[in-house]
Amino acid sequence: MSAQLLDGKLISAEIIDEVRSQVDARVALGRRAPALAVVLVGDDPASAVYVSNKKKACERAGFRSLSYEFPASLSETDLLALVEKLNADPSVDGILVQLPLPKHIDAEKVIEAINPLKDVDGFHPYNFGRLALKMPLLRPCTPHGVMVMLEKTGVDLVGKDAVVVGASNIVGRPAALELLLARATVTVCHSKTRDLADKVRAADVVVAGVGIPNFVKGDWIKPGAIVIDVGINRLDNGKLCGDVEFEPARERASWITPVPGGVGPMTIAMLMRNTLDASINLNP
Ligand code: GUN
Repeated sequence: MSAQLLDGKLISAEIIDEVRSQVDARVALGRRAPALAVVLVGDDPASAVYVSNKKKACERAGFRSLSYEFPASLSETDLLALVEKLNADPSVDGILVQLPLPKHIDAEKVIEAINPLKDVDGFHPYNFGRLALKMPLLRPCTPHGVMVMLEKTGVDLVGKDAVVVGASNIVGRPAALELLLARATVTVCHSKTRDLADKVRAADVVVAGVGIPNFVKGDWIKPGAIVIDVGINRLDNGKLCGDVEFEPARERASWITPVPGGVGPMTIAMLMRNTLDASINLNP
């Protein structure tokens, strides 16, 4: 059997079109378009690509995008001052500080400084806590994008055994909370997990977010499983690859996300959705 592909590119385009229609309808009623502030510190090449894609999506969604780009030498104090300025600016609905930040800046402190109602990444403890308590507001974009992609494809998660590989704040932990909210039975694996391969072999759903190319082996995948690959790794030959060995996994799975064109575009679509939601919440 060869798995069907979960087409994140297509579904993302549909969501951005829906957001655009809602924005146009609000603008026609005299409201202003949502505005997203994107902050990039340093010169990480992958971050620069992500930020540029986010700005392009803002255009497609009909948003105003504000761009703040700084050298890696920016001080924590200056970054916190910018966040405070954006918090206080009523013309800004969403604030996104691209991660990772340079080592001398405490990312947790910066995330906590963002007004939770403008936290379109869903990373603030307030939004994370709401997701944990089954009362989500602004949800972390990548795991929420995974859930929307599965919903829109008609894949049901109720009662399924889900294994999340990786326990990061951006992917693994919020993915576990999303899967739990969707009533899957969730196991979270991390660097100290024993018998990882056996845990993955038992999974109906595998979500991989470790940032290591081909870390999850194709022969670990249970026949018929759903495989969600959140990894975006650039190989020495310049090609992108995921955290799962794609071809052998595809032979066993029922559904699989490609890299690129799977989860990546969904993250951006959910960022657009969150920014529109934040704008509506702030200016009903
Ligand atoms: N770095 C990698 N993924 C993300 C994301 O979703 N949001 C932010 N702010 N930084 C990231």
